[in-house]
Amino acid sequence: MSRAVSSEDTRSEAERPGPKPAPVPEGSRPVSVKIQRFNPEFDDEPHWETFEVPALPTDRVLNLLHYVKWYLDGTLAFRRSCAHGVCGSDAVQINGINRLACKVLLKDMLAAGKQTTITVAPIKGLPVQKDLCVDMEPFFEAFKAVKPYLIAYGNEPSRERIQSPADRERFDDTTKCILCAACTTSCPVYWADGSYFGPAAIVNAHRFIFDSRDQGAEERLDILNDVDGVWRCRTTFNCTDACPRGIQVTKAIQEVKRALLFKRV
Ligand code: SF4
Ligand code: FES
Repeated sequence: MSRAVSSEDTRSEAERPGPKPAPVPEGSRPVSVKIQRFNPEFDDEPHWETFEVPALPTDRVLNLLHYVKWYLDGTLAFRRSCAHGVCGSDAVQINGINRLACKVLLKDMLAAGKQTTITVAPIKGLPVQKDLCVDMEPFFEAFKAVKPYLIAYGNEPSRERIQSPADRERFDDTTKCILCAACTTSCPVYWADGSYFGPAAIVNAHRFIFDSRDQGAEERLDILNDVDGVWRCRTTFNCTDACPRGIQVTKAIQEVKRALLFKRV
């Protein structure tokens, strides 16, 4: 015979377990994590909130954000996926510099014998949706606009498109992009005017412009010869400093400029 099971908790308030206590790992030390908060439902302007988090030298900043969300304030919004520097979803400003939260180790930030404060804010130049999450659409629109895919005309080949190691090497650096937006959102030109394509879009155009199998270089160069294209770059190197993949972003932009000037790909 079946019996209905009530899901109602009949325990009194005193009998119910409280929220999970926040663990304090052995060997940890307290770190102040100052986070820029913004909730469009309640806030007109962003504001700062500080959380005390027990941190180990082996923690990454992402671990601290998890700690805040899981034990101190579940309303904190941020993006992450792989937690290993692969997906590019957790680019934020850490102490004012664009970084992936999953790649910054606490041991490089702990101040000897002093209380450490780490500030975390959203990347600049894109609209903030909530807390550390920004609207990435304008960034991806610029990326799509440079046609970041192989363009080949004529009949489909009956075998793979052959490429020499030297030709492959020509664009090797720019294949490493994970579209984290750290470069574009560290660029003062992009902050001043979001209509600039930005470094990441140019890096991804470069990846195909210099690919010997591709036939779309002229189209992409025309697109980047625009008033919002490569000529807006002021060579500040912020983008190269910000790139978590070590891509020579400024060099790639210079190579695209040269290809435009000398019509040499
Ligand atoms: S070039 Fe580097 S910083 Fe820019 S989007 Fe790609 S991986 Fe991120
Ligand atoms: S979470 Fe994927 S790169 Fe940091």
